[in-house]
Amino acid sequence: MREYQVSGFRVLEYEELDSTNNQAEKLGWNVLEDKMVVVTHRQTRGRGQVGNHWESEPGKNISMTVVLRPEELSAVEQFAVSMVIALGACDFISRYTEGCTVKWPNDIYVGDKKISGILIEHVIMGPYVGGSLCGIGVNINQSGFLSDAPNPVSLFQLIGKEIPVERALEELLECIGKRYGQVYDYAALERDFLQVMYRRSGVFDWEDENGRFKASVTGINEYGQLVLKDTGGMERVYGFKEITYLF
Ligand code: BTN
Repeated sequence: MREYQVSGFRVLEYEELDSTNNQAEKLGWNVLEDKMVVVTHRQTRGRGQVGNHWESEPGKNISMTVVLRPEELSAVEQFAVSMVIALGACDFISRYTEGCTVKWPNDIYVGDKKISGILIEHVIMGPYVGGSLCGIGVNINQSGFLSDAPNPVSLFQLIGKEIPVERALEELLECIGKRYGQVYDYAALERDFLQVMYRRSGVFDWEDENGRFKASVTGINEYGQLVLKDTGGMERVYGFKEITYLF
């Protein structure tokens, strides 16, 4: 393991790990500090949302877990951490290409393709967020994808040139660090989040447990839930995985 500081973060860099989130968990909360990063060149069992596998070709992409331990961030506002990471990732991608959006809650898209996935695990201590393990995978130089993930894309596929992964990591952490400065300003994060939200304007097809319907995005509420208005004028509120975007 190699240890170094970059963009205000303390990076622990491993050649190979099963999963950077697992490694952070193994290190434990006695060791994990605010703005510590576990990163690896080769992730053998990268974890995605809802138990999915996260594909990343060794040495080509960013696979990391950023540890955030804000002081006295209300547990009610835990979605602020999610917005910090998603907006930081989107700010980074936007340095290289146009059209980056956040597909609620925190998938990073360019057009209709997914360039980055985020898996956040919070530890709640009483009324506060005690700490968050923010797993982030960003496709940087991978030229093709083997898994059955529906619509992956890399920065290389979008812009036609490779970027050194170390430089990408430094820039991504710089962007996340800037957004972290807003972690107690939920309103500012929410405002910026709405601006880059996927399918922010227009009526689209959605599906919930009761079936399909058409609706537009109203925004997110103070708990980070998605708020939609259907074509019948009814407001509908959804938590994570309670709603599907239809294409
Ligand atoms: C998703 O399914 O969209 C979330 C993918 C998250 C992948 C990243 S890669 C680094 C970190 N370690 C993991 O095991 N998963 C996350």
